[in-house]
Amino acid sequence: KEGLDTETIGKSVHCFSEVDSTNNYAKTLAQKGCDDGTVVLAERQTQGRGRLGRSWDSTDKKGIWMSIVLRPAVGLEDVQIITLAASVAVASALKKAMDVNAGIKWPNDIVLDGKKVCGILTEMSMEMERVNYLVLGIGMNFSQQESEFPKEIRDRATSLGIYLKEKHGLDISGFRRSHLVKTILSELEEVYDTIKEGKVGVIIEEWKKYSVTLGKEVLINYKEEQYIGTAQDIDQNGRLIVRLSDGTVREVLSGEVSVRGL
Ligand code: BTN
Repeated sequence: KEGLDTETIGKSVHCFSEVDSTNNYAKTLAQKGCDDGTVVLAERQTQGRGRLGRSWDSTDKKGIWMSIVLRPAVGLEDVQIITLAASVAVASALKKAMDVNAGIKWPNDIVLDGKKVCGILTEMSMEMERVNYLVLGIGMNFSQQESEFPKEIRDRATSLGIYLKEKHGLDISGFRRSHLVKTILSELEEVYDTIKEGKVGVIIEEWKKYSVTLGKEVLINYKEEQYIGTAQDIDQNGRLIVRLSDGTVREVLSGEVSVRGL
């Protein structure tokens, strides 16, 4: 908590050397009524979870595994914007803290030269059509070597350490993980305030600045269905607008969809 310059995000921080999943722990705290902006951090997770029911490899102590409980006064339609805003916060924190230019692959994967360095898992609890709480789970690969990733994901995943070495000849040991964590939390507070002020358009514009998806061919996997189209835009609710080759336009909501750049 030392040196944290935020008012809401990180007012209360829970640190662990090991948990099953910081998202699980954060949910338990949320159900007990913890404050808006409560942060859970762990050195390692034994059962890290990813989007779409996947697992998230985080048993090493070389990443940033954290979850943030948010209690925004919004309805379901704004949850997607908050998720996009979280990816904007991470991308801008990477720039500020480490001068790294990251991109965002819709909806909220953070990529470096096309490889994923960070994923975000948003989970929520609704009550009477309102959001009771949200848990934003952020998983950032920090100092892993390539050989430490499972073989199946090596061509798609990277860490800040791998990227800085390859791209700039820099050693990750010269960077502090805690400094990046603090910067992410303060950037998160900034976008959260923007959302509370109702300035959704600002978030969308920011997101577009980092987007590596718009204008590209995408393959959409939705349940049993697969289709290819061009990602044209995102709308005010954060849905991806995809134009198929026959000219039909689809609006894609992130929840059950995986997108691949082609
Ligand atoms: C994705 O599939 O891209 C999302 C990955 C999210 C991983 C993070 S690590 C911290 C938090 N706890 C979890 O169990 N998952 C998220």
